[in-house]
Amino acid sequence: MLAASVTQTSPTDPLSALEVGERPAPQAPDGWVRVRLEAASLNHHDLWSLRGVGLPDERLPMVLGCDGAGTDEDGRDVLVHAVVTSPGWTGDDTLDPGRSLLSERYQGTLAEEVVVPARNVVPRPPELSAAEAACLPTAWLTAYRMLFTQSGTAPGSTVLVQGAGGGVATALVVLGRAAGYRVWVTSRSEEKRERALALGAHAAFATGERLPGRVDAVMETVGEATWAHSLRSLRPGGTVVVAGATSGPAPSAELQRVFFLGLRVVGSTMGTREELVRLLDLLVATGARPVVDRELPLARAAEGFAAMAAGELFGKVVLRTR
Ligand SMILES: NC(=O)c1ccc[n+]([C@@H]2O[C@H](COP(=O)([O-])OP(=O)(O)OC[C@H]3O[C@@H](n4cnc5c(N)ncnc54)[C@H](OP(=O)(O)O)[C@@H]3O)[C@@H](O)[C@H]2O)c1
Repeated sequence: MLAASVTQTSPTDPLSALEVGERPAPQAPDGWVRVRLEAASLNHHDLWSLRGVGLPDERLPMVLGCDGAGTDEDGRDVLVHAVVTSPGWTGDDTLDPGRSLLSERYQGTLAEEVVVPARNVVPRPPELSAAEAACLPTAWLTAYRMLFTQSGTAPGSTVLVQGAGGGVATALVVLGRAAGYRVWVTSRSEEKRERALALGAHAAFATGERLPGRVDAVMETVGEATWAHSLRSLRPGGTVVVAGATSGPAPSAELQRVFFLGLRVVGSTMGTREELVRLLDLLVATGARPVVDRELPLARAAEGFAAMAAGELFGKVVLRTR
């Protein structure tokens, strides 16, 4: 089958580690099912994998990709939940110490076929296309959990989204707006700020710019480049939800500010299968839809990776396998 994979990682030149070519179709262990993929989407996670972050040499070669939508063995339209939990785990999927995302331990979705545990197959509502559904399992599910499960806020609250153009960030803008939040964003790019406003953000600021008021929560995936601004932007008792550190993982923690203002710092990773189903329901109920920057055939995956590495995207890259 055609697949985008990595055989040798490169910490310094991740694009050079990408291979797009023929790979053996994966075998389905007992209790796993095969999904013929129609569309998959890229995440920053795939770039981290090419760098070798979370992907040690002994697991290579690895087909990349967490997100995909297609048809199951009975021909039903489905998407895949990307969090694979340990056998017998019954708690919150994201808190299983043995959990992995597709493409970390098991072959991923940037391919014509993927095999996943039966519980990781989720019916696709007819209102959503395969391309739209393929955007949801990582970036959109992460955004859903950050905002609705972890932030401690409610509709009417003001939230700040750092790095407006990202896959997670555009999801936060759309979901926040659909759910009745006041949504503020930052971006390094004026064009992306304008696009974020068109998408539904109430206000857009340059990265690091002083805000006109304090916010109830900050959605942080950028890391070092925005962390100080995130803490400065919170009202006393506010919450910063952290799900990523694209620009670096080690900013000054500013502990005096955290304890003196009673700030909450909450980590968040992916979401549960139940949250993914609720996300689907929310999209169907509100008409909100994922933001797709571009669709490419899988054979041209390298173009999508290059745009993501250059920070040029506004929304998701969808790769089509048929
Ligand atoms: N914990 C989880 O479960 C989880 C799930 C999904 C993603 N993540 C992480 O979250 C991060 C975002 O993922 P994604 O897929 O949304 O990535 P993406 O689409 O590539 O977005 C990254 C965004 O970060 C901003 N950015 C990057 N470098 C920056 C810098 N130096 N200064 C300011 N802003 C910068 C950019 O915003 P502007 O260009 O608009 O400024 C860019 O749009 C990644 O680190 C990823 O690994 C974690």
